[in-house]
Amino acid sequence: MEKLFVFDTTLRDGEQVPGCQLNTIEKIELAKALEIMRVDVIECGFPVSSPGDFNSIVEISKVIKDSTICALTRAVENDIDVAADALHFAKRKRIHTGIGTSDSHIKYKFQSNREEIIERAVKAVKYARRFVDDVEFYAEDAGRTENEYLARVIEAVIAAGATVVNIPDTTGYCTPYEYGEKIKFLVNNVPNIDRAVISTHCHNDLGMATANTLAGVINGARQVEVTINGIGERAGNTTMEEVVMAIERRKDIPVYTDIDTKMIMKNSRLVSTLMRMPVQPNKAIVGRNAFAHSSGIHQDGVLKNRESYEIIDPADVGVNESTIALTARSGRAALKHHYTRLNIELSSEELDHAYEKFLRLADVKKDINDDDLLVIVGVNRTSQSQRIKLKFLQVVCGKSSVPMATVKLIIDGEVVTATSSGNGPIDAAFNAIKSLVHRKIVLEEFLVQTITKGADDVGKVHVQIENRGNLYYGFSANTDIITASAEALVAAISKII
Ligand code: KIV
Ligand code: ZN
Repeated sequence: MEKLFVFDTTLRDGEQVPGCQLNTIEKIELAKALEIMRVDVIECGFPVSSPGDFNSIVEISKVIKDSTICALTRAVENDIDVAADALHFAKRKRIHTGIGTSDSHIKYKFQSNREEIIERAVKAVKYARRFVDDVEFYAEDAGRTENEYLARVIEAVIAAGATVVNIPDTTGYCTPYEYGEKIKFLVNNVPNIDRAVISTHCHNDLGMATANTLAGVINGARQVEVTINGIGERAGNTTMEEVVMAIERRKDIPVYTDIDTKMIMKNSRLVSTLMRMPVQPNKAIVGRNAFAHSSGIHQDGVLKNRESYEIIDPADVGVNESTIALTARSGRAALKHHYTRLNIELSSEELDHAYEKFLRLADVKKDINDDDLLVIVGVNRTSQSQRIKLKFLQVVCGKSSVPMATVKLIIDGEVVTATSSGNGPIDAAFNAIKSLVHRKIVLEEFLVQTITKGADDVGKVHVQIENRGNLYYGFSANTDIITASAEALVAAISKII
């Protein structure tokens, strides 16, 4: 088994996404999380692009000791000077320099020709080697670069001192077969290829970034460039969690990574929260539904043997357990599983009876929760499970006014009231609710979905909160999304209480 190096570019390619910008403190927090996860290389930014990027690389370099810190440049001497300065404090450092090599980039971006591009690439690599021993070269738009020419570029930059050669499918145009063949072509046709590590860097414009990356690895690449949750330009980059788990599970790909997979879910949520970018519920590995089983046949199979419908043990990616969602398609096995979880043992006759009632309820109510189950079997747990309810909510907001919310909650039958401000009506309502429950609650996820596009649509709100290391989920739907948001938060808090 050979080692596959994991190069994370969440802080560079991921952070380029509009709305995902992080401040230095947030970048340090994420860099530390990546180091703990044992990422080999952390690409932290493009230092010449802004003083903020420069400063973040300086500060991250001071605190990260195990992972290599990488800074991006164009094949321009001033970029490389600035990158070398930014990396001054890094224990392990890499400069990532490069230039576009496709005919379209050469003609339109650089108004140049192939020979001149090779010269510029070689010059940049040699210049970068004056500052650091570890220089990675990227051939931008390699996905659309003719293989013979690409091989000449790669041979020249390795001769100039590049230690890693990055073959980006910048536009996400390649198919897995084509990308795999490209890597194979380089392995077979670049005479000095054994002196450098080949890296993949795939974008997801056609939804094939993970497949292309794996095709690259199968054909000889030994570094993968990825982002957490796949965030990145346009449709994003290759997602770290998918590649790492594919390598972990598919023993027929003869490589291993050093990634601590148990950190995957935690870091996915961290990126989602810091970058305010929700993870789609059905996202592979890290989506909320990635380990949720809803059809009766699947539920029964999973309850008999998890591996019937799960190829990954949720614990391996830091998820406590799979979810058996109760819907109208669930069978008796799922229902029995939930009663057992609630410490209620039913005879087979009682289970049949409960199942009939459950099906009637599931036809009219989408989410069957623990309280519904208790009501079905005649146990009244209302006083325990519904200790907290939203009784009243009023918000004042609008242009040029400070958003304020007044909230009344019923906690243990007692009405308590609070008024708070916030940066918007939902924030104000959340602040008021949180002030009443006296618990340290961290909002991990907040997602509003609408079903149609009309302004009169029902908003579905999903909330995930963290309290003492545990995650609690709450949901509500309402045409008034502020009320739905407050109800979803209260539903999640009720689970703690
Ligand atoms: O997609 C790309 O080509 C890049 C390079 C700058 C490495 O992000
Ligand atoms: Zn990219």
